Amino acid sequence: MLPHSSAGGAGPPDAPARGWRTWFDAWVESAYGADGFWRIHSPDVHFRTAATSGPMIAEMLAALVDRHPEITRVVDVGAGNGRLLEELSVIRPDLRLLGIDLRTRPQGLVTQVGWAQDMWDVRYGCWTTGEAGIALADSEPVMIICCELLDDLPCPVVTRHADGWRELIINDDGQEQAGPRLESEQLAWADRWWPGGDRAEIGLTRDRAWVEFIKLIKKRGGCAVMIDYGHTAGRRPVTGSLAAYRDGRALDPIPGSSVNLTAHVAIDAVRAAGEAVGATTSFCGLQGEVVPELLQATTHPDPLLDLGRRSEHSALSSQYVWGSHWWLLQC
Ligand SMILES: C[S@@+](CC[C@H](N)C(=O)[O-])C[C@H]1O[C@@H](n2cnc3c(N)ncnc32)[C@H](O)[C@@H]1O
Repeated sequence: MLPHSSAGGAGPPDAPARGWRTWFDAWVESAYGADGFWRIHSPDVHFRTAATSGPMIAEMLAALVDRHPEITRVVDVGAGNGRLLEELSVIRPDLRLLGIDLRTRPQGLVTQVGWAQDMWDVRYGCWTTGEAGIALADSEPVMIICCELLDDLPCPVVTRHADGWRELIINDDGQEQAGPRLESEQLAWADRWWPGGDRAEIGLTRDRAWVEFIKLIKKRGGCAVMIDYGHTAGRRPVTGSLAAYRDGRALDPIPGSSVNLTAHVAIDAVRAAGEAVGATTSFCGLQGEVVPELLQATTHPDPLLDLGRRSEHSALSSQYVWGSHWWLLQC
């Protein structure tokens, strides 16, 4: 992690020098600026996600859809290369499938999968191009999937100072200072969801995005599933969870368009935000618990394919790989 130059120091910081900005502004620019990380990088070049590791996440989601016969539509928000939906189209060709991502439609994506190129704006809590709004205007019950999306949504990064939580500011050299004090909604969020620790990420941007999806299923019927890296009260990382990756390797988190900045999701906060607008939580727990329930233990007659399936199964279940991902299912 970076040196925390004045975090936790005695008095409020001096007026910051030029080039300083909040971590939140720097993160938004790094991710979504004109040459931001998500504008120019494809996730599969930098890391492997559970959803693209094979067909099993799609199989599990198909098993969930089977439990909701009213669902005829599936929307994957932050759909990446569309692989999850493509797998789903094989298992359930009857479903209408839609991917939403700020990226253009992936080349070669099967025609059964629709695509809306749109960006969820974390500052204003709305879609940017209008394509998602049009594509979501349907009234049929839907399953909304957010697979490793919320952890990528930028949020304010804060440090505990002698006088309480302050937003962290950072300069172009990666030096950090305590900036303005947290106020109103952000302070209330920190007090409720992250009362201890030296450093934290304020997850309001994630809660707001989730609420938007829940409002949609309230209107249309169906359910929303989040699968992501996360933590819950009592197990928050004391120094926060902001991290940066380039080409699959972890680095010190410094702003820049060549790195994927991410922070684990405060799962219980997202859950409460959904419940506050009327959702019922059907499941909130670790993927390791979900796998045996949703994946049938089958063997494949081809030994090589069988080996591949077994290794995917253990990666999805193992707490050292993706078994520690959180699943939140709200209906
Ligand atoms: C970590 S990748 C996950 C991709 C896929 N869901 C998977 O599990 O393999 C995150 C995806 O979310 C998209 N994304 C990030 N922020 C977004 C935003 N604010 N609005 C729309 N898409 C976003 C990125 O372009 C990227 O494709």
